[in-house]
Amino acid sequence: MNRSNVYDCSIIELNSFSSDRRGNMSVVENGKSLPFDVKRVYYLYDVPGGVERGGHAHRSLFQLIIAVSGSFSVTLDDGHLKRTFMLNRPYKGLLVVPGLWRTIEDFSSGAVCMVLASSQYDEDDYIRDYSEFMMYKNG
Ligand code: TYD
Repeated sequence: MNRSNVYDCSIIELNSFSSDRRGNMSVVENGKSLPFDVKRVYYLYDVPGGVERGGHAHRSLFQLIIAVSGSFSVTLDDGHLKRTFMLNRPYKGLLVVPGLWRTIEDFSSGAVCMVLASSQYDEDDYIRDYSEFMMYKNG
């Protein structure tokens, strides 16, 4: 069972350096920006319009989701409440705690969804069936 809820998640503003002349840079650093250490990075790109990604929950994985280019929306569901976040700034990340069903959709053309994750890939950490997820939350 996992009692996390959608209000445990929030937008984190990243440490950024901006210059009219030289452009912008945002930084994520272990031990400073996040409540977890980054063990894995992956990113979604060339996602056709109308496609929904995600559609699962994690038992113990923490993630920071960043729209490094373009925009998309992330909907989080704790079994009782849903919250949707529109991500469209490369200097902001959505912290997603374990135990939440997530879907990612409304990808703009050229969107890149970068995910910083607290663990290496482990299929056993996934809950891919929604009714199993509801039992996990309420059981
Ligand atoms: P999937 O979980 O279906 O993607 P999404 O949740 O974004 O819709 O993952 C697609 C495939 O990629 C699936 O076969 C698992 C594999 N995969 C890895 O091998 N390593 C990873 O770190 C991730 C995130 C996925």
